[in-house]
Amino acid sequence: MNILVIGSGGREHALVWKLCRSSLVSKVWCAPGNGGISQQAECIPANLADISALADLAEKLRIDLTVVGPEQPLVDGIADEFESRNMRITGPSRKCAQLEGSKIFAKEFLERHNIPTAQVYGIFTSGTDAAKRLENLNYPVVLKADGLCGGKGVAVSKSYSEAVDFVDRLLRKREFGSAGGRLLIEEALEGRELSFIVLSDGQDFLPLVPTRDHKRAFDGDLGPNTGGMGAYSCDGMISSTMEAEIRDGIVKPILTVLTRNGCPYRGFLYFGLMLTPTGPKVLEFNCRLGDPETQAIVPRMDFDLGDVFAAVAAEKLGTKRLNWSPAASVCVVMASRGYPGRYVTDKEILGLENVEGVPSVSVFHSGTRRDKHTYYTSSGRVLGVTAVGETLDAARRIAYDAVHRIDFSGCRYRSDIALAACLVANVGED
Ligand code: AMP
Ligand code: GLY
Repeated sequence: MNILVIGSGGREHALVWKLCRSSLVSKVWCAPGNGGISQQAECIPANLADISALADLAEKLRIDLTVVGPEQPLVDGIADEFESRNMRITGPSRKCAQLEGSKIFAKEFLERHNIPTAQVYGIFTSGTDAAKRLENLNYPVVLKADGLCGGKGVAVSKSYSEAVDFVDRLLRKREFGSAGGRLLIEEALEGRELSFIVLSDGQDFLPLVPTRDHKRAFDGDLGPNTGGMGAYSCDGMISSTMEAEIRDGIVKPILTVLTRNGCPYRGFLYFGLMLTPTGPKVLEFNCRLGDPETQAIVPRMDFDLGDVFAAVAAEKLGTKRLNWSPAASVCVVMASRGYPGRYVTDKEILGLENVEGVPSVSVFHSGTRRDKHTYYTSSGRVLGVTAVGETLDAARRIAYDAVHRIDFSGCRYRSDIALAACLVANVGED
C-alpha cells in the first residue's frame, strides 16, 4: 500500500515511524509533515483547511489509504470527501467528528444516552446571563467554548472573578471567534484523568492501551493547559474491572447508538475520562488519536499497523487482535520557552545524534524543520522524546537520560512526567 498521513506533529511522526515497519506498506507520504518526519516519509506541502485539495493530492499520488492525524480536517468533513470519491481513509465522518467539534453537541449526546459525565449548569450566548448563573455556583466550575480552540477553550475556574474573566474573553472580546460564541458551564469533576482511545470500523472496536497525558505547562500540574507536555502508558494503569466498566458503560453504548442512528464511527475515538470516586465519567471526546498520547502508545504496538488500518477500511476489524508489548513507555515533550503562549523558533537543535540508535529511545518530532543534516525548532512543542523500559521507572529514567543529551536555546520540559505513577508502588488507582 501507498499510505498518506495527514498532519505535521509528533503524533503523525509516531504513525509514520510505525507504518514504515509494516510489511504491507511500500511507501509513506506525509502532508505536510515536518523536519523529523521527512527522514522516513516523503513530505508534501499541504493546506489542511482545504479538504478537497487533500483529496486531489491523494488521488494524484495514487494513495491506497489515507490516515488523518488532526481534528480540523475531520470536523470539516475530509472522510466524507474521500468516501464520495471512493478513496479509503481512516477517520470519522463530519457528523461523528461533531463529538469533538462541538462540546455542546457532545454534552447533549452524553446526557441523551445516560453516559456518565459532569453535570451541566447552563449553556449561554450572553455574557450577562452567564455571569448571573456564575453568581450562584460553588467553585471550582468548568467553562468550555463550544468549538475547536486548539486546546485553549477550557477553563477550570477557582473563583467567580476568574470565571467572569473567561466569559468576557469568550463572549465579549470574541478571542476564539465563532468557536467561542456559545459557552458551556459544568461541574468540576475530581479524580485522575485517563486517555482511553479505541479504534472502530463502524461494526467492531478494539481499545488501545490506556495512557495518561500531562496537560499543564509546569511541574506539579501548575500553569496553563497545553496540548500536552508528556504521556505514559504501562500495564496496570487501570484494573480489569475498571476497563470493563469503561468498555461496557461508556464505549459500547456510544458506538452502538451511533451505528443505530446511521452514523457508524470509523477511526480513532478518544475518550478523555475522569476516574471519579463514583466511577469513570466522560470529560471530552476527540475524534482522533491524542498528541502526545500516540507517542507513548505506538512503541507498545506489537502488531502491523498497516494491516490494522486495512482491516478498518474493509470493516474487518473484528477478525484482528491487537497485541501489546508489556513494556512501559514514557514520552517527554521538549518545548520552546513561552509555550503555550508566545515563543521564538528557528533555534538549532543540538545532540540528536547522541540518542540516535539507542534501541529503547525514539525521538518523535513535533515542530522541527530540517536543513540538510541540521534541525531547527519550528513550533511550541518541538520533540517528544520517548523511551520504553521493563518498568515505568526504567522507561522514565531512559527518557530523561535522552532528554538531557538534547538541547536548544530556550528549551523547556516538565521533569515530572510519569513521576506520580512511579512513586505509587501499585499504579492501579481505581
Ligand atoms: P477538554 O478540552 O474538554 O479536554 O478539557 C481540557 C482539560 O480540562 C481536561 O483534560 C481536564 O483536565 C479539564 N477538564 C475538562 N472538563 C472538566 C471537568 N468537568 N472537571 C474537571 N476538569 C475538567
Ligand atoms: N493530548 C490531548 C489531545 O491530543 O487532545
